[in-house]
Amino acid sequence: MRSLSSASVLASLCLLLLFLAVSSQKIGQGYRLVAVEENPNGGGIIGHLQLKQGTHAYGPDIPHLRLFVQHETEKRLRVHITDAENERWEVPYSLLPREEPPPLESYIGKSSSGPFTASEYSGEELIFSYTADPFGFAVKRKSNGEILFNSTAEAEDPYSNMVFKDQYLEISTRLPKSASLYGLGENTQPGGIRIRPNDPYTLYTTDISAINLNTDLYGSHPMYMDLRNVKGEAAAHAVLLLNSNGMDVFYKGSSLTYKIIGGVFDFYFFSGPLPLDVVDQYTSLIGRPAPMPYWALGFHQCRWGYHNLSVVEGVVEGYKNSQIPLDVMWTDDDHMDARKDFTLSPVNFPRPKLLEFLDKIHSRGMKYVVIVDPGINVNSTYGVYQRGMAQDVFIKYEGKPYLAQVWPGPVYFPDFLSPKGVSWWADEISRFHVLVPVDGLWIDMNEASNFCTGKCEIPTTRPCPIPNNPTPWICCLDCKNLTNTKWDDPPYKINASGMQAPLGFKTIASSAEHYSGVLEYNAHSLYGFSQSIATNKALERIAGKRPFVLSRSSFVGSGAYAAHWTGDNKGTWEDLRYSISTVLNFGIFGMPMVGADICGFYPAPTEELCNRWIEVGAFYPFSRDHSNFASPRQELYQWESVAKSARNALGLRYKLLPYLYTLNYEAHTCGAPIARPIFFSFPNFTASYGLSTQFLLGSSVMVSPVLTQGATEVNAIFPPGTWYNLFDMTKTVISKDDQSVTLSAPLNEVNVHLYENTILPLQRGGMLTKEARVTPFTIIVAFGFEAGQGYAAGKVFVDDDERPQMTLIDGEATLVEFRATVEGRKVKVWSEVEMGKFSLEKGMLIEKITVLGLDGDAGEDLEIEVGGERVSDLLDVHFSTAAAAASSSSVDELVGG
Ligand code: NOJ
Repeated sequence: MRSLSSASVLASLCLLLLFLAVSSQKIGQGYRLVAVEENPNGGGIIGHLQLKQGTHAYGPDIPHLRLFVQHETEKRLRVHITDAENERWEVPYSLLPREEPPPLESYIGKSSSGPFTASEYSGEELIFSYTADPFGFAVKRKSNGEILFNSTAEAEDPYSNMVFKDQYLEISTRLPKSASLYGLGENTQPGGIRIRPNDPYTLYTTDISAINLNTDLYGSHPMYMDLRNVKGEAAAHAVLLLNSNGMDVFYKGSSLTYKIIGGVFDFYFFSGPLPLDVVDQYTSLIGRPAPMPYWALGFHQCRWGYHNLSVVEGVVEGYKNSQIPLDVMWTDDDHMDARKDFTLSPVNFPRPKLLEFLDKIHSRGMKYVVIVDPGINVNSTYGVYQRGMAQDVFIKYEGKPYLAQVWPGPVYFPDFLSPKGVSWWADEISRFHVLVPVDGLWIDMNEASNFCTGKCEIPTTRPCPIPNNPTPWICCLDCKNLTNTKWDDPPYKINASGMQAPLGFKTIASSAEHYSGVLEYNAHSLYGFSQSIATNKALERIAGKRPFVLSRSSFVGSGAYAAHWTGDNKGTWEDLRYSISTVLNFGIFGMPMVGADICGFYPAPTEELCNRWIEVGAFYPFSRDHSNFASPRQELYQWESVAKSARNALGLRYKLLPYLYTLNYEAHTCGAPIARPIFFSFPNFTASYGLSTQFLLGSSVMVSPVLTQGATEVNAIFPPGTWYNLFDMTKTVISKDDQSVTLSAPLNEVNVHLYENTILPLQRGGMLTKEARVTPFTIIVAFGFEAGQGYAAGKVFVDDDERPQMTLIDGEATLVEFRATVEGRKVKVWSEVEMGKFSLEKGMLIEKITVLGLDGDAGEDLEIEVGGERVSDLLDVHFSTAAAAASSSSVDELVGG
């Protein structure tokens, strides 16, 4: 062995000392809780925290903090920590309506309320406890004593102390190894839906394409759901850190650490205990998912590169001729004049011709959606820009509108936090709506995406944009990177764009200012969210109908205003797989109307992949084929095999529309995702905790798609019970454990199964939702096979989807709850109706009731009673060794019985 020279020993020692110095700098000494009292102005407790010892890493510590804790509901606890002496940035209370904590001046010593002496502060479900020195807090579940969150320091881990500086906040929680975590996005997770230890999570809205794995993407959702199975009993809860500043979240398996560059700690704990309870509690705070118009659940076709109206007309014809359902036609920026928002290309999309086309498709019941980007072209001859300037609506830098570049060339970004910006935007939408009566808007590039970085100017010595530039995304402005302010160059660098990029990298400079001096640094991740609110409200006011908005960027609460797609993915098998986890995560984020670009955005998919993708995409809540101009055309009719798969899978989707629409209602009323991880219905089925290759629609329809090239079989897991193949109800899986079952899956077929104990409403389907929704219903009653006796339930919600509100009002909506029992050979089916007038007036009928899971055959002794009356004429009875089905030809009103 070579002996170390004294010089190298010295060098190593120096390095060690340097390391110790740097790491000890990072150790927050934490805070001491010096007093706690009851909130003099209402519920909750208020604590006074004092810094123990400051450190210099990432700036000075804030000496006094104010802690406010409140059990806001039986199931929700809030823990809010901020600077006790100065107001700090927080997510505006106007964007996400929630209770404001007591004003700072009402704190400690200045009030007459008594001290709070207990070491625990208990609510109905959750208990808040704390340690005073160093300060830390824990949240415990009352019913089973399980500690859900625990920031109290451990002697052997001095790093776990809370840090609170102006531009750096850090807090950790210890977690048991048994916790399964979901959420924290937006993020493409190669490991599937369950968060893997040591995968990086950076939350900061960014346009770097969804093909980048585990990096900050378009949305920011600092919430996770934690599912634990303690001695066979599953319980889920969620934690939201309501903070819009950039942050890194490190999950190490036994701990989770937030490192945030501003704002406050505003934690909300939702006690669950079922996953569905969690999303209910979560969306009751952040806003219930927006109700979708019926047509939005149909199939959508889009492409960047439909160069003129004839191409678009051809696509509509292509679908019609191929007998593939299509409800909504989209155009990307191709209809615009020189890529300017709210304009039409006079050559490629002349208004009279476009209006003719719209009349035609509208009269069939089809819809049309167009894109709008936030960047408004800086162009003195452009009315949208002129009015924006006149009304002073743009985000500012050094007192002037902040200059950036997107597709049309130089742009300014409207400020959707400014009331002036919001009303100007509504006015522009309204003007455009007069020009082109679009049915919905697609707001893209709203992270906000900028092709330039920093402080930019239009060059005086060369044209910008470069005329006839084939690559318009190349920035032609003169730009200077900004490092001169603490906002552009903060002391702690989040892992922006997966490469510790500057905060202002390809977006608005962090030192730019919004309305009333709000810094882009703080409000950055709220941009797409605030645009979604402004767009949704404008559309509703203008058209008086239920709005449809699709937004790329999102934040906590966006689901109340917009649908989402997962952004620019690749036409690869990996991206097909990843799409499932992202879609499922958005359901947990309260943004359930979500889908990925079917067949991939870029590059071209293979024919086989596109077959398999439509078999998944037909069951995304938002089902849209979209591609990049540089890829070949990929409408579903381009390949006969894909057309066949599409007819099959979309055919089922269109039959399932009443079910999907009812899920949309459930999402809107209680936050339930439309597409759900399997554990949502089977929380005790631990084999499903990481399952990211199958998913549920609602509680009982399971999709088990092929996700690998060349496969014609799929190995699927089935939670115990009887599952009926929805395409061929005689094919049944009876599962007793978590062993996978091999299902046949030829190229044009996808496996979709219905769980026992379910009543599923179906209609006949069709080429358009408008046609499908007036066809008679079939009610499928699925009992567990060999149950001997059993119970099934289901429901259907119907309303006038033009109405902005989706509420159960007499004459405007009907909710029917179906119930069924079986005892031996005796089946009873009945319904309970709320507000039956609407469905009666619309003449909605049930033409068939199919009963699955009966023992034996349809012999004389089989008795089926519907709504109290015995049904005698059994038709269309089919049996298999595994299941028996019987149908009744009796025609009942939907509300009958
Ligand atoms: C980026 C979007 O993600 C993509 O879907 C769209 O086609 C392009 N912008 C062009 O508008």
